[in-house]
Amino acid sequence: MWVFGYGSLIWKVDFPYEEKRIGYIKGFSRRFWQGSTDHRGVPGKPGRVLTLVEDPEGCVWGVAYKLPEGREQEVKSHLDYREKGGYRAVTVTFHPRPPFTPPPDQTLLYIGSQDNPDYLGPAPLEEIANQIVSSAGPSGANTEYLFELADAVRTFLPEDADTHLFSLETLVKERLQEESKRSTTNLIANST
Ligand code: SIN
Repeated sequence: MWVFGYGSLIWKVDFPYEEKRIGYIKGFSRRFWQGSTDHRGVPGKPGRVLTLVEDPEGCVWGVAYKLPEGREQEVKSHLDYREKGGYRAVTVTFHPRPPFTPPPDQTLLYIGSQDNPDYLGPAPLEEIANQIVSSAGPSGANTEYLFELADAVRTFLPEDADTHLFSLETLVKERLQEESKRSTTNLIANST
């Protein structure tokens, strides 16, 4: 059994695997359109995390992991629990970066489709950036989720020119800089 990661499964690998391959899937784009109330937000104040949306022209790079033989169900149960916030497992065709050959079977991935209760859908990038800056949950800050992914894609998946991801990274960094400037100014004003 192979599992494809396009978001946090790229940089947060808390499960055993036998092999991993970098590659891509076709027909989707990555979007911060899924709400998170169990990892990067809380009920009533969800964070924004990734899902895939159908896009005939789209291509998403990520990492596919081969689950250890004999322990597939155990590891899949762990992943099902981790991705319980609105995601469901579907199968896709994974294309490994040459010279590797595709796995013999279809690859699993977790997707938060439009009909799940945590789905938030599209919003202007500025709004998504503000939500990411102000959200945190049991797994940590929403900004960490975004920055870890942007760093990993830049470093390991340079083929993926994901403008949605990198524009959000820029916007969120700008917001954080503005916040830090504002609090320095307030600190100076309050101490004089
Ligand atoms: C996830 O696996 O969907 C989220 C994990 C995290 O936010 O740390």
